Amino acid sequence: MKNSILTCSIILTFLGCSNNKKSDSMIDTKTEAINEKVDSLLSKMTIEEKVGQMNQYNGFWDVTGPSPKDGSAKTKYEHLRKGWVGSMLNVRGTENVKEVQRIAVEETRLGIPLIIGFDVIHGYKTLAPIPLAEAASWDLEVIEKSARVAATEAAASGINWTFAPMVDISRDPRWGRVMEGAGEDPYLGSKIAKARVKGFQGNDLSDDTTIAACAKHFAAYGFSEAGKEYNTVDIGTSTLHNMVLPPFKAAVEAGVKTFMNSFNELNGVPVTGSSFLQRDILKGKWGFDGFVVSDWASINEMISWGHAKDKKEAAKIAATAGSDMDMEGYVYVEELANLVKNGIVKEAILDDAVRRILTVKFELGLFDAPYKYCNEENEKNNIGNKEHHDAVLDVAKKSIVLLKNENKILPLKKKGQKIVLIGDLADDKNSPLGSWRLGSDDNTAVSILEGMKKYSENNLIFKKGVELTKDPVSFTSEININTTDESGIDEAVKAAKSADVIVMVLGEHSFQSGEGRSRTEIGLPGLQQKLLESVYNANKNIVLVLTNGRPLTIEWADKNIPAIVEGWQLGSQTGNAIAQVLYGDYNPSGKLPMTFPRNIGQIPIYYNYKNTGRPNRESHVFWSHYIDSPNTPLYPFGYGLSYTTFKYDNLKVHNGENFSTEDTIKISVTITNTGDYDGKEVAQLYIRDLVGSITRPVRELKGFEMVALKKGESKEIVFNLTKKELGFYNSDGNYVIEAGDFEVYVGGNSATKIQGKFTLN
Ligand code: BGC
Repeated sequence: MKNSILTCSIILTFLGCSNNKKSDSMIDTKTEAINEKVDSLLSKMTIEEKVGQMNQYNGFWDVTGPSPKDGSAKTKYEHLRKGWVGSMLNVRGTENVKEVQRIAVEETRLGIPLIIGFDVIHGYKTLAPIPLAEAASWDLEVIEKSARVAATEAAASGINWTFAPMVDISRDPRWGRVMEGAGEDPYLGSKIAKARVKGFQGNDLSDDTTIAACAKHFAAYGFSEAGKEYNTVDIGTSTLHNMVLPPFKAAVEAGVKTFMNSFNELNGVPVTGSSFLQRDILKGKWGFDGFVVSDWASINEMISWGHAKDKKEAAKIAATAGSDMDMEGYVYVEELANLVKNGIVKEAILDDAVRRILTVKFELGLFDAPYKYCNEENEKNNIGNKEHHDAVLDVAKKSIVLLKNENKILPLKKKGQKIVLIGDLADDKNSPLGSWRLGSDDNTAVSILEGMKKYSENNLIFKKGVELTKDPVSFTSEININTTDESGIDEAVKAAKSADVIVMVLGEHSFQSGEGRSRTEIGLPGLQQKLLESVYNANKNIVLVLTNGRPLTIEWADKNIPAIVEGWQLGSQTGNAIAQVLYGDYNPSGKLPMTFPRNIGQIPIYYNYKNTGRPNRESHVFWSHYIDSPNTPLYPFGYGLSYTTFKYDNLKVHNGENFSTEDTIKISVTITNTGDYDGKEVAQLYIRDLVGSITRPVRELKGFEMVALKKGESKEIVFNLTKKELGFYNSDGNYVIEAGDFEVYVGGNSATKIQGKFTLN
């Protein structure tokens, strides 16, 4: 075991990092003025009005959780008029928002405006790629821009608070919500969390195109056992502090205004009732001064979990633990005032929660101009405009990952090739929109069929092969891929026989991933595998375009199909983005933000695993492995090809090999474009801390850079490692750096073998 050095100073440094932990001298006059206004308002409020601020109701139209109670609309209007509602979600459109805001501002005793929340997850009306896909761009600038576009459109529709970004790390592709996060890695996840918060909130929250962001779901929701939605989470302190919490901390550092807790329990305590997470870590150690909203009725759910015996107890536990606002749970509004009056919950708890909520409302400028987000002109001009479509197309093409390209089958030729396009998902204008698209209109994406027609002069032949079940595709409906009707397969095979190239678009419909959509099999659903194999038997010249919200198990395709493109669900501009990549107008540059397993049995599989005590095949049987599958994944984290090729060499650790923990360690590498096209490469740097008081992963991403290289061009790139990258959190959640030997790896994915080393003394 190594010595722990620098523990205390590092803890202090890291506490000091939080943007929100302002020292007295940093509190600017604007903040002071807001504090005064909040205090003055708070002093006028009754207990019921305070509880009202902590109460959030769903609107009257869209539903994003179990249906609200019958007759609740009447109650909601009554409560609005009494000042018992602080926020609404799923109310959108300037007219609708104005209606509820007018009641809050003009009909209640104190006229406190509502904060209006909505799930603006990857766009409002103009949709960008699903977040997992965007993460595959590794391009923080375009990710920030995408959130900016989303905020501008949402703000123009009356919304001033998004329930995004979801920063849950997950290693389990069975979990449907991996589509909504940034994948498996806390370093990449933290960078993306910051970019998204910046994009939503901009530099000035009072601007009428910026909205408050919400880091969710605090915490560990992504570690649901067996990938089953809303399930138990049981993880150790090392995983919690090193894998789960860093992106949340990054969001705090980026100044995120709100947090959402979660449906899961963590080691026996539902997180909605966790003082450890919400009071000790978030509001204590990290100094977060925004507010925490519960997830949809997650306060009530503590009763089903068996953590609270009734609503009264649930209200007490949640409020005491630091859940400041109750989303559509009716628990606070029904129980909290009496709990305070009976001395069971301290009024100071209400004051703290309300102070946080009012502060955000002041910062948004809602007290000065409660209807600022209800400008009909903005609604007309700022939603769905060309600039926004251009921006989402840009991020969409950058999110595509080339997984395989044998015999240079890609890019396709724009002329003179007989291309047969197969797969009903290619003709679908709905699935590309992803599963979070309440603000958008159904069937508005550019389909892949449309995109491919537009970008080439080829005579494109299209065959569905296997038809999608065309259920009414609404947010709550079930969608399936045909599992019984094989009648279209023969026709697809016939057409494929005479093709130069076949493009097959297969995968999941977007309603097969997302919340409540966990799967136990993650291959191609329905008859699509059969379709793929049947076409392959007739003509092997296939480009498989995957469209999906999670990593899929496609081992057969990887072995047999010459080209595979990961096309996710890319939002409104899907077809144009895919066509630009297939025809070579854009040379793919995406890299996987999540490992692709070979089979379900390997899950959870991730690149930053521990070595184990028996990592190598020194004995025939007794080593850490499966007897029926390799340990390696199908595609590792960080993996993605280009139409060109890149060579990495000359990795140098500058200034010797011995460093102190205060040093900045400079590492450089030369990258050369050795192929036939100009291209972009995401160069990645990983470290391995060889010996730790808590065992360290075999690889940890600690830097990346996007490098554009012309054909034949070389560039040296430099990474700097500092104590921010070299340490880890111990079991107490304290950041430590330990002396000892490190390996460093640079390359185009997490399995790179290009290696250097250094020692920390
Ligand atoms: C989800 C949240 C979402 C909320 C409001 C919940 O079911 O877990 O992520 O923000 O609904 O729609």
